[in-house]
Amino acid sequence: PSVVALVVAAGRGERLSSERPKQYLPLGERMLLAHSLRRFTEHPGIDHVQVVIDPSDSALYEKAVQGFDLLPFVAGGETRQGSVRAGLEALTHFHPDIVLIHDAARPFVSSNLIDRVLDGLAHTAGCIPVVPITDTLKRLSARQEVTSGPDRNGLSAAQTPQGFRFASILNAHRTCGNDSLTDDAAVAETAGLPVAAVAGDPYNFKITSRDDMTRAEAMILPPME
Ligand code: C5P
Repeated sequence: PSVVALVVAAGRGERLSSERPKQYLPLGERMLLAHSLRRFTEHPGIDHVQVVIDPSDSALYEKAVQGFDLLPFVAGGETRQGSVRAGLEALTHFHPDIVLIHDAARPFVSSNLIDRVLDGLAHTAGCIPVVPITDTLKRLSARQEVTSGPDRNGLSAAQTPQGFRFASILNAHRTCGNDSLTDDAAVAETAGLPVAAVAGDPYNFKITSRDDMTRAEAMILPPME
């Protein structure tokens, strides 16, 4: 099957409040975005990689992706979901069989994880990586008071890349009424698409806060002398 990776990198990263969006922060010898892309561009089963960005970041983007073979970038939307939709619409002329949708904010995606998602798609329209939730969940009031939380039994945390049959997820995005869903499995659900889960990877965490960035830097070991 033809497979395209769609990487959304059009967010402003406001929770990190850095001088530039987090996907363009340095991480080891490259910018964070380059790490998030390389497992896809290197993967023998992936035909093309499409990145969605905010065009006002285009100078940073060109620097970040030096040496990568990518489709021309697509301009993102106001929300993550809008950015995914823009990327899917731009891919309609390729009409791949499969699309893997990935957050640029996850630089530690592995090729094994990509394989698990692709394998999972053999039997279903959608397949997402998940990790178990081991901490007990609490809901906090506006005053930071602890109230009861949802039972963690039966709950998992969703990661990306999330894989889908291209035609199915494009249709789900086109018909989805709500534009503030935070992942594509939620969009798939609105269209009644079956979505399977495979084992995610604890290293494949999403960079959201300054602490996440510190953890990411600690994971990039400097080259040996
Ligand atoms: O904000 P959050 O970290 O949840 O965003 C997840 C991913 O979606 C990030 O890689 C971000 O760049 C992307 N995004 C986007 N367009 C937006 C908002 C977020 O491409 N309008």
